[in-house]
Amino acid sequence: MTVYHSEPAPCSVHARVDSLCTQIADSLGEQGWCVTPQFLSPALVAQARDELEAHWQRGDFRPAGIGRGASLQLKTSVRTDWVRWLDPLHCEPAHQHYLAALEYLRAAINRSLYLGLVEFESHLAVYPPGTYYRKHLDQFRDMGTRSVSCILYLNDAWQAADGGQLRIYTDARNDAHYQEILPLGGQLVTFLSTRFLHEVMPATRHRMSITGWFKTRG
Ligand code: OGA
Ligand code: MN
Repeated sequence: MTVYHSEPAPCSVHARVDSLCTQIADSLGEQGWCVTPQFLSPALVAQARDELEAHWQRGDFRPAGIGRGASLQLKTSVRTDWVRWLDPLHCEPAHQHYLAALEYLRAAINRSLYLGLVEFESHLAVYPPGTYYRKHLDQFRDMGTRSVSCILYLNDAWQAADGGQLRIYTDARNDAHYQEILPLGGQLVTFLSTRFLHEVMPATRHRMSITGWFKTRG
């Protein structure tokens, strides 16, 4: 039997996201990390950026900490970015749209990798010029339920000279092996949270993103 695969109709946003998510899940299975340009349309990225900037202007962000709950600490030697946690029921429309798109990714990963992902937690992040997040793993020492890290960048016309690369160490035994990814607007980076040390290099411009984690029940 011949099966003909056709591209989804242009208006079929969901079919496009669904097929991107299947590709991401495959690539997480194969190499453990994935870079997807234009995960969201330029219009949605611009809207999500505006929504983030409005919160930033209003002073709705806090300096990011390390750990959680009672053990939350500010460690400026480790990270100096600013965050605002997203409440999925009350966040802005484009942010909600992104969270809805990630439900396809959660389903695709569960289908192909059987990770049993049950929820997503995320925050908006701003790295003002010169700020950073040193080499780290996305796991709390006391609670290892973060399973897949997802970062969507919201920056307009980012250039290599602006810095702010995400550096992913691809070989745990050799620091010289890494990939550097520019925070290009609309680009989604995903990786297995327990497997890859990574760091955020300082930039010369405000660097904006939505960073989140799919979690297992634990
Ligand atoms: C993080 C993180 C990477 C990035 O917030 O844990 O590693 O590129 N962010 O913003
Ligand atoms: Mn991280």
